[in-house]
Amino acid sequence: MPLTVLDHALATHLITRLRDKATQPEQFRPLARALTGILIAEATRTMPLQKHVVQTPLEVVEGEQLACPVVIAPVLRAGLSMLDEALEMIPEARVGYLGLERDEQTAIARAYYCKLPPMQGSYALLLDPMLATGGSAARAAFDLYGAGAAHVCLLSMVAAPEGVSHLEVLYPEMQVVAAALDRELNASSYILPGLGDFGDRLYGTF
Ligand code: PRP
Ligand code: URA
Repeated sequence: MPLTVLDHALATHLITRLRDKATQPEQFRPLARALTGILIAEATRTMPLQKHVVQTPLEVVEGEQLACPVVIAPVLRAGLSMLDEALEMIPEARVGYLGLERDEQTAIARAYYCKLPPMQGSYALLLDPMLATGGSAARAAFDLYGAGAAHVCLLSMVAAPEGVSHLEVLYPEMQVVAAALDRELNASSYILPGLGDFGDRLYGTF
């Protein structure tokens, strides 16, 4: 499975600010949005292009444009932190929502909502800032490929080795771009060192 871990000074700065437990939700949200911009830039680096001729104010030039329809798929709730910036960068994208929630005892993800646009042949950008056991991302990939996505790229802020291995086995063709690859999961399936519960820190539900 193609895994890319960002090597970018600003991304490192932003992820450190996000990890800091002193960072409050009102700071956490813009930091997450800024980091999403860097993740999107990396995730779209090799997107397929097709020729597109435009007339500049001076002459005709043969340019290129994205060749596939793009679908941005945030995983509720935490992935919502990444949606606005992703849409800002790719305004023509359609949006599909995936509602997934881990059981607090078992850490097994339960799907409670799925609303996808037409997916056939699409390039899907799956937004979920935390890749822990990989259960949520695997379920999301199942839905996106099942609906016809030609390519799925998961954009995460923090990934655990356990989650990366899980996806490698189930979806070896899926692309993963992460801002940080952390050490391990703890007994409750939280990422170490991680940043805690992303959804709670985003919305103040702690
Ligand atoms: C978090 C996170 C991921 C998931 C990752 O969501 O946003 O979706 O956990 O864990 P996994 O890789 O072990 O599946 P959570 O279930 O806490 O829901 P929330 O965003 O609504 O808080
Ligand atoms: N979900 C989170 O928000 N944080 C973790 O560390 C693991 C799953």
